[in-house]
Amino acid sequence: MREIRKAVLPVAGWGTRFLPATKAMPKEMLPIIDKPIIQFIVEALINVGIENVIFVTGRHKKAIENHFDYNHELEEHLKKAGKEKLLKEVVQIANMVNPIYVRQKEQLGLGHAVLMAEPAVSNEPFLVALGDIIIENEEEELKKMLKLFRKYGNSIIALMEVPESEISKYGIAKVRELDNETFIIEDLIEKPSPEEAPSNLAIVGRYAFTPTIFEKLKTTKPGRGGEIQLTDAMKLLLEDEAIYAYKVNNPVYDTGNPLDYLRTVITFAFKREDINGKLRDFLKGILNEERTLS
Ligand code: UTP
Repeated sequence: MREIRKAVLPVAGWGTRFLPATKAMPKEMLPIIDKPIIQFIVEALINVGIENVIFVTGRHKKAIENHFDYNHELEEHLKKAGKEKLLKEVVQIANMVNPIYVRQKEQLGLGHAVLMAEPAVSNEPFLVALGDIIIENEEEELKKMLKLFRKYGNSIIALMEVPESEISKYGIAKVRELDNETFIIEDLIEKPSPEEAPSNLAIVGRYAFTPTIFEKLKTTKPGRGGEIQLTDAMKLLLEDEAIYAYKVNNPVYDTGNPLDYLRTVITFAFKREDINGKLRDFLKGILNEERTLS
C-alpha cells in the first residue's frame, strides 16, 4: 500500500462571509495575530512528513504564492536592519514547503476544488485540509489519521463532537464504533437539523482519501447551494469502499466567519506571553466601561 505524501488545500472559495476583506485576498491569509491561518496548516502537514502541498487557488492566488516564496528585498532589508530572527523566520517559510498551485477557474464548490487537484495528485492516496480550520496540536491529529490509513488502507475522516446548537453548521456522520478510537462511517448528512442528525459527530475538515474519491467527484451532482459537495462524493464513495473515522481530541478553531475568527484570535492571543497581560487589561477595561454605561 502506498504512503500518503501529498496534501490538497482548497483555498479558492469566495469567502463571502469575510467581504470586503476577501475581495483581493483569500480568507486563508487572514492573520491569527501575526501568522496567516494557512501557515499553521502547512507547518503541521510538513511536520508529519507531507512532501507536496497542492493549493487549489482562485483569482486572488498571489498572496499565498508570495507568502511561501522568497522575498529578496524584504530579506535584504531585514539583514541591513540587523533583524536576524525575523530574517530567519521569513526565509524558513519559503524553505518549508514544496508547493504546487492548481487553479479552480469557477467556484463550483469544495468537491469541485478537490477534483481540480487530480492531475497533481495522480493515482495516489492524499490528505485534504480545509484552509479555514486550525487544530491545536494538529500534528498529533494528523499522525492519528496517517496511522489509521496505514492500518486500513481506506479513506479516513476526522470528526469532532459539537453541541446541539452547532449541528446544522456541519456535515454530520452516522457511525458504528469499532474500538475506543475508531469508527466506521455508515452515512453522512450535510448540515442536518438537530432532529435529523444521527449523532453529534461533525466532519472537521481533515480527510485522507483513496484516489477513488476523484471518480466519485466526477459523477457528483451539484447539491446544497448548487455546489459540488465533498460530502456528497463521500456518500458515493461509501457505496464502494469503507470510510473510517476518529475523534479529534484537540481544540478545533473555525476561522471562516468573523465571530469565530475573533474567538480564535483572542484565544491565541491569550496563549502569547508577549501579549496576554496587556490584552487582558484592555478587555477588562472595555467590559467595565460597558457595565458602567448599561
Ligand atoms: P467554505 O464554504 O467555508 O468557503 O469552504 P467559502 O465558500 O470561501 O466561504 P463563504 O461561505 O463564501 O464565506 C471551505 C473551504 O473550501 C474552499 C474555501 O476556500 C475554504 O477553504 N473552497 C470552497 C474552494 O476552494 N472552492 C470552492 O468552490 C468552494
